Amino acid sequence: MNEPPRGRQPGTANQRACLVCGRSGLTEIISLGRMPLANALVTERNLTEQEKTFPLDLAFCSHCTLVQITESVPPEDLFMEYPYFSSYSETMVREAETLVARMVEQQELGSRSLALEVASNDGYLLQHYVGHGVKVLGIDPAANVAQVAVKKGIPTIVRFFGPDVAAELRAEGRQADILHANNVLAHVPDVNGFVAGIATVLKENGIAVIETPYVKNLVDGVQFDTIYHEHRFYYSLSALTKLFERNGLAIVDAETIPIHGGSLRVFAAAGSIEPRRSVRDLLSRERDEGLQSASYYLDFALRVELLKDQLTSLLADLKGEGKRIAAYGAAAKGSVLLNFMHLGTETIDYVVDHTPYKQGRYMPGVRIPIVPPTKLLEDMPDYVLVLAWNFVDEILAKESEYRDRGGRFIIPLPEPVVAR
Ligand code: TMP
Ligand code: ZN
Repeated sequence: MNEPPRGRQPGTANQRACLVCGRSGLTEIISLGRMPLANALVTERNLTEQEKTFPLDLAFCSHCTLVQITESVPPEDLFMEYPYFSSYSETMVREAETLVARMVEQQELGSRSLALEVASNDGYLLQHYVGHGVKVLGIDPAANVAQVAVKKGIPTIVRFFGPDVAAELRAEGRQADILHANNVLAHVPDVNGFVAGIATVLKENGIAVIETPYVKNLVDGVQFDTIYHEHRFYYSLSALTKLFERNGLAIVDAETIPIHGGSLRVFAAAGSIEPRRSVRDLLSRERDEGLQSASYYLDFALRVELLKDQLTSLLADLKGEGKRIAAYGAAAKGSVLLNFMHLGTETIDYVVDHTPYKQGRYMPGVRIPIVPPTKLLEDMPDYVLVLAWNFVDEILAKESEYRDRGGRFIIPLPEPVVAR
């Protein structure tokens, strides 16, 4: 399955233009071969059909320092039925609650303020503003997920956010005192329009809080499985700064946070405002560590190949000893890892996941069945490969009984380890 195209080496120039600054001469970082869409779980009914695959290649733009996927997939294919319900992760709901309390205090938000969230999902974040008496409005293109938010009393516009929606909201006098956009900047194809839209929809003293996975963690942590078609862009602060400046937003503050394996959180305002020291410090650290040059990204491909060898050998050895292996978390990154390493039902019996929507479906490509986590205690497989490694602490704590009874977890990244 999915063999990478031969004869192309990382580091070769790609003729395509940068999706964001438009300059040509992208440097290829890694090719993961052809892959099914990582979030497109297969239903029982569709098991007989061959799913579509798309090339998955990562490249670096030396002009604006942005790391990007070169193949585009129509957004309608990606997001219309998005199976991710964020409230199922306790970590995320708790993080959101803390962040909201901080912003309410810092920005002195009250009943006359409007909190807007782009990619508002099931309302896991906005619900906390409701708790503080702040008016809320969600925007999310996934109708099935937005419905869940609306049922919770969180008004949600079912659309892709962009300059049009922003202009309409502004014309209606619905500008935001605070705007959140978590884990969406990596996804939008027209990222210039998206950022310009944020500048449009913010009130004069409004602030945007934007979180996106940090490319430094991808590279340093060998998190190759976070590369998938839904993730168009992989940001450094340097790339974000250029992108925002070009579209009328200024980054005033920046911090790194542990969520999703390591993310950047930036605070931005419309216009040109002097950044805090945190921004200057992080930018100079990126310069020192080489994030602004291609060489930083190039040995990443070799480290990914090494990881593949290590993990597939470990699993093959265990199978050779007659061990039974399951996996944990039907996350998109799990789909990438399994497909890239060609791990199917010959190695992994099933994937457990708490999300009811995912249960009864199959992992894309490799077609491993997804079942409820209660299966672990019933079946007691010898090993469980943690695909949702970003939640490893939460999962190990939750499954203490499985561990007490002798079950073992395998954590795949940055190098495979068996948790004791
Ligand atoms: P994500 O990494 O894309 O957020 O996906 C994490 C997946 O792991 C998601 O499908 C939910 C699942 N999960 C569980 O099933 N149980 C858990 O305890 C946790 C933390 C995640
Ligand atoms: Zn560029």
